[in-house]
Amino acid sequence: MPAISFQSVSKTYAGSKGGNSPFRALDDVSFDIAEGEFFGLLGPNGAGKTSLISILAGLSRASSGRVAVHGHDVQGDFAEARRKLGVVPQELVFDPFFNVREALRIQSGYFGVRNNDAWIDELLESLGLADKAQSNMRQLSGGMKRRVLVAQALVHRPPVIVLDEPTAGVDVELRQTLWQFIARLNKQGHTVLLTTHYLEEAEALCTRIGMLKQGRMVALAETSELLRSASSNVLRFKVDRELPPALALTARVTGRIVQLPAQGALEIEQYLAAVRQAGLTVEDVEIRKADLEDVFLQVMAAERNPTAPMALTA
Ligand SMILES: Nc1ncnc2c1ncn2[C@@H]1O[C@H](COP(=O)(O)OP(=O)(O)OP(=O)(O)O)[C@@H](O)[C@H]1O
Ligand SMILES: [Mg+2]
Repeated sequence: MPAISFQSVSKTYAGSKGGNSPFRALDDVSFDIAEGEFFGLLGPNGAGKTSLISILAGLSRASSGRVAVHGHDVQGDFAEARRKLGVVPQELVFDPFFNVREALRIQSGYFGVRNNDAWIDELLESLGLADKAQSNMRQLSGGMKRRVLVAQALVHRPPVIVLDEPTAGVDVELRQTLWQFIARLNKQGHTVLLTTHYLEEAEALCTRIGMLKQGRMVALAETSELLRSASSNVLRFKVDRELPPALALTARVTGRIVQLPAQGALEIEQYLAAVRQAGLTVEDVEIRKADLEDVFLQVMAAERNPTAPMALTA
């Protein structure tokens, strides 16, 4: 039995009274996540990731389709499904009247877990919150509030952990601590579903990846397979002026830095020749292996225009 099962999930948000028309945020999404998997759900802003997680967590209803956690339907069998899940929401929501330890005790009580202080202490320690246990939630910085949200999600030791952009606004050190902690829980058998815009993190952690675009699943495969399927190399260089249009179409441009996906040496030579012909000066040329960010951009670009040339043809 899968840890999480999404079957033909669609979600249409009703239009607002102000005149917005109904909006289809999820369109027939189906996939399973096996027990013990570390799964990454990726997609640009507005792709539908949080909508899917809200349905999973029972915070919102699918317009059609079925979602189950360890076989428990998230609507028909809400309490059991919810008990199996620990959800770290994207939005920072918290009760300002309690201190950190109280908030975690209350959350334990919500799931009917008593005498939970040993585990609460371990969570506080692992998430670098030990010295903040008595602090009021209001007194915490944004990154610390996010750590408390992670602790809250884990307080009842759920077998399935869902993290919706848990590292947004979190400093480098905590990101590493957090990932070590989550990776350890995953090794112990917990299933993890993660959304993030840090594709480096997803590449390092997730064994399988799904990519959503405008509510549709446009890629679903093991991370290693996705990396193999992409153009195997990336040509990176700096330019002094704007690229010619034919190249700009396939390039990833950050300021003066240009990155182009390339299969092999021939393609790399063609790119450099095209740049030279356009009269641009090229500096700091480098060739590196394609990473998940390259794959992500290729998948999204291919979806935008299925006939978009992946290689330079002119
Ligand atoms: N309550 C709502 N009412 C109407 N539209 C909504 C509602 N919630 C989300 N949407 C719309 O649904 C689409 C998907 O939103 P969602 O929050 O699921 O995206 P996301 O993939 O989580 O994006 P991000 O990376 O920015 O968090 C967006 O176009 C959003 O505007
Ligand atoms: Mg979101």
